[in-house]
Amino acid sequence: MTGVREAFESMSWGPAPESPSPAVKWLDEHGRAFGHLIGGSFGPAGAATFPTINPATGEELARVTQGTGDEIDRAVSAARAAQPGWWALGGHGRARWLYALAREVQRNSRLLAVVESLDNGKPIRESRDLDIPLVARHFYHHAGWAELMETELAGHEPVGVIGQIIPWNFPLLMLAWKIAPALATGNTVVLKPAEFTPLTALLFADLANRVGLPPGVLNVVTGDGATGAALVGHPGVDKIAFTGSTDVGRIIRAATAGSGKKLSLELGGKSPFVVFEDADLDSVVEGVVDAIWFNQGQVCCAGSRILAQEGIAARLVEKLRARMETLRVGSPLDKAVDIGAIVAPVQLEKIQELVEQGKREGATCWQPSWSCPTEGLFYPPTLFTDVSPAATIAQVEIFGPVVVLMTFRTPAEAVEISNNTRYGLAASIWTENLNTALDVAPRIKAGTIWVNCTNLFDAASGFGGYRESGYGREGGREGLWEYVRAARSEERGARRNPSLGEDPAGVDGAGLRPEPHLPPPSSLLPPIDRTAKLYIGGRQVRPDSGYATPIRDPAGALAAEAPQGNRKDIRNAVEAAHAARSWASATAHTRAQVLYYLGENLAAREAEFAARLASLTGASPESAAGEVRAAIRRAFYYAAWADKYDGAVHATPFRNVTIAMNEPVGVLGLVAPVEAPLLGFLSLVLPAVAMGNTVVAVPSERWPLLATDLYQVLDTSDVPGGVINIVTGRRQELAMVLASHDDVDGVWFFGPRDEAAEVERLSTGNMKRTWAEWDRREWGDDHQGQGPEFLREATQVKNIWVPYGA
Ligand code: NAI
Ligand code: MG
Repeated sequence: MTGVREAFESMSWGPAPESPSPAVKWLDEHGRAFGHLIGGSFGPAGAATFPTINPATGEELARVTQGTGDEIDRAVSAARAAQPGWWALGGHGRARWLYALAREVQRNSRLLAVVESLDNGKPIRESRDLDIPLVARHFYHHAGWAELMETELAGHEPVGVIGQIIPWNFPLLMLAWKIAPALATGNTVVLKPAEFTPLTALLFADLANRVGLPPGVLNVVTGDGATGAALVGHPGVDKIAFTGSTDVGRIIRAATAGSGKKLSLELGGKSPFVVFEDADLDSVVEGVVDAIWFNQGQVCCAGSRILAQEGIAARLVEKLRARMETLRVGSPLDKAVDIGAIVAPVQLEKIQELVEQGKREGATCWQPSWSCPTEGLFYPPTLFTDVSPAATIAQVEIFGPVVVLMTFRTPAEAVEISNNTRYGLAASIWTENLNTALDVAPRIKAGTIWVNCTNLFDAASGFGGYRESGYGREGGREGLWEYVRAARSEERGARRNPSLGEDPAGVDGAGLRPEPHLPPPSSLLPPIDRTAKLYIGGRQVRPDSGYATPIRDPAGALAAEAPQGNRKDIRNAVEAAHAARSWASATAHTRAQVLYYLGENLAAREAEFAARLASLTGASPESAAGEVRAAIRRAFYYAAWADKYDGAVHATPFRNVTIAMNEPVGVLGLVAPVEAPLLGFLSLVLPAVAMGNTVVAVPSERWPLLATDLYQVLDTSDVPGGVINIVTGRRQELAMVLASHDDVDGVWFFGPRDEAAEVERLSTGNMKRTWAEWDRREWGDDHQGQGPEFLREATQVKNIWVPYGA
């Protein structure tokens, strides 16, 4: 036996196990077999079931049902039936339910924590102190949004029935992130938990039933990827919200293309953890523990790439190794354990394989001297040094307790290595120098930046990715937009001009101009430049193809020729748009000035543009003049917004505030509607450039000359070369090149549905954001043709957590 003195000196301690008995009791009450929660009642376990395992022991905890297409269908119907009543409850009514759920979570917090640790393998310390309190916090916070929805989201309504698919790493927390905002904003839900960790979702469903949540508001269907795919493909679902691997995110994007379903994706990451020479290294070491050994490293935003400035790298490695020696791996229910079990054999194998690959590629692998328990799925904390930035282990998401360390010399190099990944989920920056931190934060492409902290989450702050880490935000005011849309009364369908044809967005533009055609007015007009060109990098250039398309006026007379841009021209335009990216760091005031100037210069040529519009499209002089005036006003409108689309400061807990910055998406491909050839075109270009994006814009295929006429206006308005690039030609061909281009960060497409679907499908290459619409907008209507919706599509929110206060 160890004496007190000996124990004190060695500072070792024995196990402090949390009792599993309440969880065992709950499982036994359900006969250790579960059906789904559909329409307020738990069905019996189905014909096909599969086991869910405790990864620390291999013990089967229960059997759950493999959800069928039929069951998904019943769950969607139940959600559909419940949705109008849930919305009709009003904000306060829904808030009361969300509060009730939050309280129920708190009342059962220990049970939830134990079930979570049993099913997932995460240490009880984490499930008890982090996961479950954050779950309650999410419901409380969103109860507040339900309460405030009528004023804070005025003019918006729920999307409808939401299909939600979540991963196994934070089973209950991801459930809360998904359900709370959806229910708060009046939607109803069908949720599919991950197959490795379905139990807390079932327990939560049980609790929701116990508090009496109205039937059908929340439905939980268990199963594997096939069940998830059935939910994604169900026509009765209005939106899919997914968290998981980038591979499956890609499949879901393709599967929903052209369906009109809203989509948000929270995918993988390979987040940098940047340590500058002046950082407090002891804090850094604890930061690394939280960054990569939290939840066994099975964290989408894990700080899995340490970038250490050269001067301190050796010292940091030494300190890290010393700290790693003291970490404890073992039973998740032991309150003194730091690292629990890996979720499943397949995940453990993946980690082992990647570590072997790292060694094969020449990196130095270091693990503590002690060994892991041999029963159960355990893996020791692992540190790789001598890693090249291109190595597999520096690029691939390992999703385990394995971190790579690389070095850098200058802040610029740190930024470059940070961004050398296809992901963009999170980053942390460690330095005692405020200037360094706030200089680097805007330059790292990631949705969350933590300054001198890491892996902090809160319901008040948005969370989500850039690039292949997905799109959409969860949490914060910014997360609410994922679950609402403009109210029906404001929707364009209701206002659509009834005299317009069925296929208004078709290339020929038939039926777009209801006014009677005028006699050919060409002779009354200023001479026409018959050799329009493309506009790339601030210069007029000939199309690569050497071909042009004749553009005829309504009487059939040749008005001019528009160049036929092709793949090569788009590529050149994208390159020019990239070269002009310093536009993003021009001050908002400068961008506003340029747009005002553009508006003024357009106004100076109002009559000329109106005449051109009338002659080309056959619109009446009044209607043509109206379109030009609306375009001028739109330039002033976005000039006004350029320096007013502010971010926010979120009131997150801990010693932080969180700065939510609206950042430009990057290079946007804009495919303009066929109708309203001047106004529709500018309605896309103006908000995009106002927010600091650079664009490659494809004008109306039928009437491209209104856009090519803008070249002189752009030249005289101090728009820097490359900020606005214009490529005319076949819409379908050019749109698809943009959608599949890996250096384009987002595409807006307004055209026929089949092409919109193709744009969405092709976007999966680099998981670019898309905004594709086939319903026609009334571009002259201020509610439809402009507004914050355009600014939101032109930006992505970066949340920067900075230390603040005591
Ligand atoms: P996964 O992406 O396959 O699973 C996530 C969820 O999607 C689960 O509920 C699954 O049943 C469902 N799903 C799978 N295929 C589907 C489909 N075709 N349609 C609809 N739903 C589908 O992730 P998995 O296989 O569990 O883990 C593989 C790797 O993904 C991990 O090693 C890790 O690198 C990464 N991952 C990343 C996560 C993140 O939060 N970023 C979370 C989980 C895994
Ligand atoms: Mg399990």
